[in-house]
Amino acid sequence: MHLTIFGSGYVGLVTGACFAEAGNDVLCVDVDERKVEMLRRGESPIYEPGLEELLNRNLAAGRLNFTTDAAEGVRHGLFQFIAVGTPPDEDGSADLKYVLSVAESIGRHLSEYRVVVTKSTVPVGTADKVRARIDATLAERHAQIEFDVVSNPEFLKEGAAINDFMKPDRIVVGTDNPRTAELLKALYDPFTRNRDRMVVMDVRSSELTKYAANAMLATKISFMNELANLAERMGADIEKVRLGIGSDPRIGYHFIYPGCGYGGSCFPKDVQALARSAQEHAFEAKLLNAVEAVNLRQKSLLFDKLSRYFGGDLAGKTIALWGLAFKPNTDDMRAAPSRTLMEALWAAGAKVRAYDPVAMQEARRIYGERADLVLAKSAKEALSGADALAIVTEWQEFRSPDFDMIKSELGRPAVFDGRNLYDPAFVRRFGLKYYAIGRGDNPC
Ligand code: UDX
Repeated sequence: MHLTIFGSGYVGLVTGACFAEAGNDVLCVDVDERKVEMLRRGESPIYEPGLEELLNRNLAAGRLNFTTDAAEGVRHGLFQFIAVGTPPDEDGSADLKYVLSVAESIGRHLSEYRVVVTKSTVPVGTADKVRARIDATLAERHAQIEFDVVSNPEFLKEGAAINDFMKPDRIVVGTDNPRTAELLKALYDPFTRNRDRMVVMDVRSSELTKYAANAMLATKISFMNELANLAERMGADIEKVRLGIGSDPRIGYHFIYPGCGYGGSCFPKDVQALARSAQEHAFEAKLLNAVEAVNLRQKSLLFDKLSRYFGGDLAGKTIALWGLAFKPNTDDMRAAPSRTLMEALWAAGAKVRAYDPVAMQEARRIYGERADLVLAKSAKEALSGADALAIVTEWQEFRSPDFDMIKSELGRPAVFDGRNLYDPAFVRRFGLKYYAIGRGDNPC
């Protein structure tokens, strides 16, 4: 089948490469010429395991192409996927300007029936706006051409996106027209062979499903973080509590890891956007607001612990930081807890020596050269001469460190673990002070 994907960001690229891998003829359209040039050379602008290999294989096979020409895009695909960004605007609502500008391009160049598929995470009611924008543009041209608008949200996890796309838990399709549901079924069939994983519903329910999934997951995390803070004060260990509740199949072990807060491009933005949408419907989303507030507080927790440990005076201190990405297996630092921590440390006059297996370049891009940030070449080098170690990302290589080495490198041998990676008793055996999340020990 012929597909066009508008937006070669995270979602668009993974979607395009995976559909091409299944034998479809995919054309990706992006306004950024530099990015399109890079992609034509087979270079991925983002770090995602397996993506570059898929790009190159399908480029070579001629099934995957890139262009900046929207007209060519509209001509190419029966399916017109919209996978452009929906960044938060000033009040946290999703900004639809990119989505609607693609809708306008489609309206301008449409010459035969097309299925327009919104893949970007968009507020409920956006499909109607996309339809209205295409209709308005067609009206300007005095053209009457049939098209459908379908909602098909993505549920990809960064770092595991290819696998998530190839073996989806479910594919949600929102449409008010049974014919388009059949077309999308045929398109997704190679990925859902063994079981029908397609959940078809009306457009608005589909749009809300995406927010519901992310808000539910974010709620689980904030709930556990709230409990962790309580456990800390009550002298309980949240890790034992986690195992205790996870064994109940109604609760489950997944996604109940306490930590230094959730980050990334989705949870913070989507929880906020849903809360703002609620406001627009004159409804106060008390739980969503609390989920967001708990997370903001959690992101400051490691700084608060460090500050208490150093008696409120961090000026002139050097903190080693392991992990910059918002989670392992990505170089993405959007809304990462590392940023909240570093920025608070700098504001308090401290220096940071950071190490991350893949996000170093991204950190340099965001913060540039600055005297209070050293990007170290290894986890060990980050420790050199530092006063304490803070861990914010649970990269595999941080899981079994040489604690003797940590002790000998650090000025004041204290580890602040934002991901509860170690057994506290084990770490303390090396003569290190160890402060984790919700494990009954607090610096005073
Ligand atoms: C998320 C959703 O999982 C995905 O379905 C959706 O399409 C996009 O948003 P992603 O942002 O890639 O994916 O990251 P995810 O793995 O969900 O982690 C989000 C954040 O939650 C990370 O900062 C992670 O560290 C944190 N987290 C996750 C916890 O603190 N505890 C947990 O138990 C799980």
